[in-house]
Amino acid sequence: MHTRTLGRNGPLVSALGLGCMGMSDFYGQRDDAESLATIRHALDRGLNLLDTADMYGPFVNEELVGKAIQGRRKQAFIATKFGIVRDASDPKIRGISGRPEYVRAACDASLKRLGIDSIDLYYQHRVDPTVPVEETVGAMAGLVQAGKVRFLGLSEASGATLERACAVHPIAALQSEFSLWTRDPQSNGMLAACRKLGVSLVAYSPLGRGFLTGAISRPEDFEADDYRRSSPRFMGDNFTRNLQLVEQVKALAADKGCSPAQLALAWVLAHGDDVVAIPGTKQRSRLDENLGALDVRLSAAELAAIDAVFPPDAAAGTRYPEAGMSAVNA
Ligand SMILES: NC(=O)c1ccc[n+]([C@@H]2O[C@H](COP(=O)([O-])OP(=O)(O)OC[C@H]3O[C@@H](n4cnc5c(N)ncnc54)[C@H](OP(=O)(O)O)[C@@H]3O)[C@@H](O)[C@H]2O)c1
Repeated sequence: MHTRTLGRNGPLVSALGLGCMGMSDFYGQRDDAESLATIRHALDRGLNLLDTADMYGPFVNEELVGKAIQGRRKQAFIATKFGIVRDASDPKIRGISGRPEYVRAACDASLKRLGIDSIDLYYQHRVDPTVPVEETVGAMAGLVQAGKVRFLGLSEASGATLERACAVHPIAALQSEFSLWTRDPQSNGMLAACRKLGVSLVAYSPLGRGFLTGAISRPEDFEADDYRRSSPRFMGDNFTRNLQLVEQVKALAADKGCSPAQLALAWVLAHGDDVVAIPGTKQRSRLDENLGALDVRLSAAELAAIDAVFPPDAAAGTRYPEAGMSAVNA
């Protein structure tokens, strides 16, 4: 397995992790049996980085991951997140909390659901605009001191916020959306800040929530409760325009002799040893396909050819609806 170090002198994780969110939430029907088999297959293949969050499900995704790693704790590197507050009785409602007492309670609840003694990487999922990040990270540092957490991360934090957080405690990873159709970390200074501060970038939704794989051809095919039905890039004219970009990805992948998903993942991984990608799938066969990206090397000329047909900012539509965009710490 290809590995990469998180942060300066941090832990070694597989260059491709497994995003577990879609197994329980957002992307249509659940199939827990196949999801469990997929997580265990990932561990069999030497992938150790499993990505979850308390808000996925809500809550049940951590339980699923916990079940999958029973008896195999040492093979797994568990990353989970707190800070997007959901209530199982009304899952549509969202809040954000970075209050120290909330951080401590959320961590205890995640440990219990995961059935583990310590979380390998604990992220603040979204920065709480009402709580100074120093206070939140101070509470997270307390969890490290208490032995409940090993490494700290932030998600969707700006470079300036990251710098303030690093002044309180080392941050191993910043998780942000990064893919062919979401280049924000390159354009908004986030990747540069990560490099200055010795923080790895964990790229989420590296397959553009499935769109970049070429497997999605009609928005009507999504189930009624699929989040993507309300995601601007998957709606109306945006969908049609973005599909034209994906046709280019398909053509480039065919030239390279790989699948579009592999090309999209290889593109992310080509940005440096300090970048890790966490594609999500609930299917073993797709996990195997995605791991094939580790053997796809893109030359400078191939990266330039990709940029020529799929330039930064080419995607039509914002990556989240308005409420989601406002929760991003820009
Ligand atoms: N920090 C944050 O705010 C945040 C936000 C979003 C996601 N995340 C994390 O990042 C992980 C990955 O992101 P994501 O799941 O949103 O998006 P993604 O990895 O870009 O795409 C996942 C989608 O692609 C499909 N897919 C995967 N491999 C495929 C293949 N080879 N061919 C065709 N389709 C394929 C999956 O369907 P199947 O499952 O049916 O294969 C799923 O619908 C999540 O699981 C989550 O852990 C974090």
